[in-house]
Amino acid sequence: MKKLVIASGNAHKINEISAMLPDFEVIGLKDIGFDHDIEENGTTFEENALIKAKAVYDFCAIPTLADDSGLCVDAMDGKPGIYSARFMGHDTSYTQKNQAIIEALDGLDHEKRGAQFVCAMAYIDTHGKDHVVKGVLNGYINTTIEGEHGFGYDPIFVPYGYDHSIAMMDESDKNKISHRHLALEKMVSIIETDLD
Ligand code: IMP
Repeated sequence: MKKLVIASGNAHKINEISAMLPDFEVIGLKDIGFDHDIEENGTTFEENALIKAKAVYDFCAIPTLADDSGLCVDAMDGKPGIYSARFMGHDTSYTQKNQAIIEALDGLDHEKRGAQFVCAMAYIDTHGKDHVVKGVLNGYINTTIEGEHGFGYDPIFVPYGYDHSIAMMDESDKNKISHRHLALEKMVSIIETDLD
């Protein structure tokens, strides 16, 4: 079975990606003994995904897939964007971060509450060539925090066509529409062709 590395220590992400690539052996950073910190100093999701994928590929020379994701809020000029994890500091709870975003949008009409969950994925193939794709889930910022599922900004984000936040959805339902899923759908054929 052909192997690929997911440049992540997050078991949940590795499982989600493995499920969409059943014909390949999907391994994580632990499996290759990679424990360095990668400095994500890019200015876009795409750059950061590529920085991660290259660092890991350079270490193991096995085809590598990396992602970088976050929430972009229209009324906040696209913030927190690539700084989603670092927004208001790593030690600030997501309840506080989510509350701060709701307050920043206080009083705005529905059409001004637009937001996107964005995921860039970068793949370094068997020849060392890079491929980058992006998945975007469009929606809006709710006026309240709701739901217990998921993580991060899920409790304030409502995808268009839905009435409730992503944190009200089962994980399996979220995974069918998520920005990561949309990016991975685009990347699957590139990986399958490369590892054929
Ligand atoms: P990462 O690039 O997947 O590690 O995501 C960076 C940050 O973006 C996370 O720490 C969250 O704050 C936010 N984020 C990314 N994806 C999601 C999601 O599916 N739901 C909620 N927050 C997310």
